[in-house]
Amino acid sequence: MAQVVKLALVGFGRVGRWVAWDLAERGRRIEARYGVRLVLESVITSRGALHRADGLPMDLFRSERLRDHWVPLEEFGWPVDRSRAGLEGVLGSGAQVLIEATPTDLESGQPGLDHALAALGRGIHVVFLNKGPLVVAWRRLREVAGGSGARIKAAGATAAALPAMDLGDWCLAGARIELIEGILNGTTNFILTRMEEGMDRAAALAEAQRRGIAEANPRLDLEGWDTAAKLLILANLLMEAELELQEVPVEGIQTLTAEEVRAARTRGEVVKLLGRAVRRDSRVEAAVRPVVLPVDHPLAGVRETTKAVRLVSDLMGELTVIGGASSPAAAAAAAVKDVINLAREGAVGA
Ligand code: HSE
Repeated sequence: MAQVVKLALVGFGRVGRWVAWDLAERGRRIEARYGVRLVLESVITSRGALHRADGLPMDLFRSERLRDHWVPLEEFGWPVDRSRAGLEGVLGSGAQVLIEATPTDLESGQPGLDHALAALGRGIHVVFLNKGPLVVAWRRLREVAGGSGARIKAAGATAAALPAMDLGDWCLAGARIELIEGILNGTTNFILTRMEEGMDRAAALAEAQRRGIAEANPRLDLEGWDTAAKLLILANLLMEAELELQEVPVEGIQTLTAEEVRAARTRGEVVKLLGRAVRRDSRVEAAVRPVVLPVDHPLAGVRETTKAVRLVSDLMGELTVIGGASSPAAAAAAAVKDVINLAREGAVGA
């Protein structure tokens, strides 16, 4: 008998729609491989919800047109329940796991923060794609989850298909992580690669936007905030850093010129936007800035939209992981991975 895991998806933008499509496409295969049946009970937006207590018919989400473009909920071919819009939907869905895929707001954490607190307070596990709540209110989320026994998963909020969180959480379990360093933003790495080849920043950004990896507000990528958010979440969850975003000096690539990037190359160096968190005595210091690396540095060859993370621990040494696709599909798959792993950890399933 497969374990049944009931899911609610909040937020139905570019990545949220991919989550639904992914569950529809891969649900059978996941059940056969892991013995876990992922049942999507609700898709919740601010305008209303698609809901059925024993699971929505997944054929609703198989259309590529509905997956790839914003369309009103009405077009999915299922009655839209207005009473379940937003927070009401989150509380009333009967789900065991909430996938939080509303847009990231690094100042207020909303609306995802209220969704997550409401869910965690009721013992519903939360799988984050949205970075905002984790950046703004990690301590509160941890306390509320601790009180109810709910778990928090954040692979989709920390470079997604690059397994930065799982590497620290699972592969280095028990070890003390001394340093986290990485190229955590695909958009800026793509722009730096193209600038090195002679393309200007605006054209490279437009291409990253076309590929669907840039933030809705691309300043979050260019000015280093997306890197800082991912670094902060990794440092807080893996190094118990207790960092606030305002404590992290953040410098982006918005003022770098193509000449500077190409000049580094002619000197045998490369410019990379690096996030770095390092343990110093009893505290962790973090910063984001463009750095010039020698071409033989482990992160120098990370190009295009590829990301990478390097972790250094006390007893298990140094690990570098490079790769994982950068795309809405890959981000959605990272959230599905977190749900599968919640079931494998025994946190959910009936
Ligand atoms: N804008 C991000 C990036 C994707 O370019 O890596 C979402 O985290």
